[in-house]
Order: sequence, then structure tokens, then C-alpha cells
Amino acid sequence: MAILVTGGTGYIGSHTVVDLLDNGYDVIIVDNFSNSKPEVLNRIYTITNRRPKFYRADVSDYEAMAEIFEKEYIEAVIHFAGLKSVAESVEKPELYFDNNVGSSKVLLKLMEIHRVSNLVFSSSATVYGVPQHVPLKEDDQVGGCTNPYGQTKLDIEYLLKDFAKAHPEANIAILRYFNPIGAHQSGLIGEDPNGIPNNLMPYITQVAIGKRPHLNVYGSDYKTIDGTGVRDYIHVVDLARGHLCALKKLEEKPGLVIYNLGTGKGTSVLQLVHAFEQANNIKIPYVICERRPGDIDENYAEVSKAYEQLGFKTKYDIVDACRDSWRWQSNNPNGYDQY
Ligand code: NAD
Ligand code: UFG
Repeated sequence: MAILVTGGTGYIGSHTVVDLLDNGYDVIIVDNFSNSKPEVLNRIYTITNRRPKFYRADVSDYEAMAEIFEKEYIEAVIHFAGLKSVAESVEKPELYFDNNVGSSKVLLKLMEIHRVSNLVFSSSATVYGVPQHVPLKEDDQVGGCTNPYGQTKLDIEYLLKDFAKAHPEANIAILRYFNPIGAHQSGLIGEDPNGIPNNLMPYITQVAIGKRPHLNVYGSDYKTIDGTGVRDYIHVVDLARGHLCALKKLEEKPGLVIYNLGTGKGTSVLQLVHAFEQANNIKIPYVICERRPGDIDENYAEVSKAYEQLGFKTKYDIVDACRDSWRWQSNNPNGYDQY
């Protein structure tokens, strides 16, 4: 019996695969490398001394996925595969819909045929749209997504809810991630964005390594502690562990369940910059710019449900994450592309 991990060579997927292998699970990864590199597989081996099975395939390709489901004995699926750039989704909404919703439909169909009833799905805090209040609770209103990427996550959540209604034997954990940062403490795996990073932490580390002259801080007139945007930054190693907690929960056959995975603490852009500077003793020059369209003032998670029902509690704070992100970036100045 193995866990099928779609998108398992990506940022969050690779950290989760390491935790799964370290905890004795057998893992089968499916990834098309649209946003990751084969080198990740070597790094996973170096860290864990175990090699997951790997298939290079597109999860929205029904025939390719059907072959994998025929060959393998799959106990549960963790579905990370998806495109995640907010800006790109605005330019290419159909691509995002086909890739993200399309791949989820293929998986559900094959899970139904092969009677695989356990699924963990990567959703996002973006489904809450513009928050009415913080912290955000799982039963708060969703919708009003400001971009097609967010809409695909919400569409998939609805698809999963309908699937669960039609299949009482199905056990599905929807995990709504807040903002993952950090990297594995080995410095061997981490976030490796293509081109100019969209997200804050990889931008900071690229400034630190000298690839970019300064950080652009998008707005200083938000209704927050210092005017810059506030988010809930969760260490990716903690986030990965949340998936193992969710798999355990599914053994109790809970039907469909939804959990926020965050720390419950908000941090502003400037607070994160200062934490990085302190943790690594590196100055991060920054320039205050216009707001980025679609950004919200603040969001952070209400985390008591995940704690009470999954036993999930974060171990690492933003200082740990800043230190680990920098270790990854400084050991791998060009990400996985150094060979
Ligand atoms: P990532 O891009 O690093 O990983 C996604 C992986 O999926 C990549 O390896 C990519 O090659 C693969 N992939 C994409 N489409 C595929 C397809 N059709 N078939 C096969 N492989 C495919 O992203 P990540 O940060 O690790 O995010 C993982 C999941 O978590 C995504 O679904 C993302 O939307 C979600 N999420 C991420 C964040 C974040 O800030 N990183 C926040 C909330 C939710
Ligand atoms: N920011 C900057 N400069 C940058 C990048 C970001 O000031 O160069 C600011 C943003 O304005 C925001 C904060 O840093 O206030 C965080 O921005 P990110 O782009 O890192 O993260 P977001 O909260 O915008 O979005 C992320 C993922 C989404 C996901 C969401 C879930 O990119 O896919 O978290 O909360 F849906």
C-alpha cells in the first residue's frame, strides 16, 4: 500500500514526501515537472535514504493516470499538483481551470473506479476571498476570489464536497494552507521559483544573495500594525507534517473534513524583513511601492480546529523559517539548476 503524491517534486510536495518516507510510508510521486526539477528526487534520496517511485505524467491526462492506477496499489492520494501563480492565472484562466480542476476530476474518477477512498487536497486561504474578520475559521464564508487561481481552488472544494455526498465511503481532507515559507533543515530542498519570484520570502532571499537590488514592498497604507500586508507564515516542514496528521485522521473515516493550516499569528511584510535580517545578519534593502492589485490587508488562521481534531500544532516560528530559507538559498544560489 502506498500514498500517491501528485506534485510531489514541488515545494510543499517534496517536504511532505520526505516526512512520509521518514515515517515509513511508501510513496509514489506523479509530477510533470511543469514547475519542478528532476534533481529534487536525488535530494529526497540524500535526505531520507529512500527512493520514492516516480512517474513523469500530467495528472489531467486520464490515460496516463489510468495506467498508474492499474499498476499500483494506492491507499490514499495527496493532491498537490496544480499551477499556483496568481498573476499567470489572470492571463491564462483556461489553463488554470483545465490544469487544476481537470487534474482533480481525473483523480476522482480513477479513485472511484479503483475504490481508493482517501484523499488529502491542497487548498488555500485564498478561498476566503476578502476576509470579513481575522482570524479566519473553517466555517467562515468562502468566495469572492479575486483571481482565477483562487477560483480553481474553490471550484475543486465544491467538486470534492459533491463527490463526498455521492460517495459516503469517501474520506477527504481539504487543507487550506496559509503562507508556506522556510525549507528543510538540511538545506537540500526548498522553494525554487522560475524567474522573478511572486512571493515574499523567495524575493527576500534573492535580494539577500544579490540577485535583486532591493525588495519592493507592495503598499504601506494597509490597515495593519505598520501599514504593510499581514499574513500567516507557516514553516513548510510544519505544513508537511500537517499532511501526515490529515492521513491519520482519514483512518477514522470522517467523511469530508476541512482544516486551516497556519500558525494563528499574523506577521507584516516589514516584520518578516526584520526577522530575516536578525536571523541571518544580512541587510535587506527595500523600497515602498504601490499596492499589488488583489492584495488584502491581512489574513491569519484560526488554528484550534486543526489542533483539537488533528493534534496539529506548529513547532517552528518565522525566525526558524528565515534561517532555513536562507540556508537553502545560500547553499543553492541557482536553486536546483546548479549542475
Ligand atoms: P509547486 O509549483 O512547487 O508544486 C506543484 C507541483 O505540481 C510542481 O512540481 C509541478 O510541476 C506539479 N504539477 C502542476 N501541474 C501538474 C499536472 N497537471 N500534472 C502533474 N504535475 C503537475 O507548488 P507548491 O507551493 O508546492 O504548492 C503545492 C500545492 O499547494 C498547489 O496545489 C498550490 O496551489 C497549493 N498551495 C500553495 C501555496 C503556496 O503559497 N505555496 C498556498 C496555498 C496552496
Ligand atoms: N509582498 C511584497 N513584495 C513582494 C512580494 C510580496 O511586499 O515582492 C507582500 C504582499 O503584498 C503581501 C505579502 O507580501 O502583503 C505576502 O505576499 P505573497 O505573494 O508572498 O503571498 P500572498 O498572501 O499574496 O499569496 C500566497 C500565495 C497564494 C495563496 C495565498 C494563501 O501566493 O497562492 O498565499 O494565503 F493563495
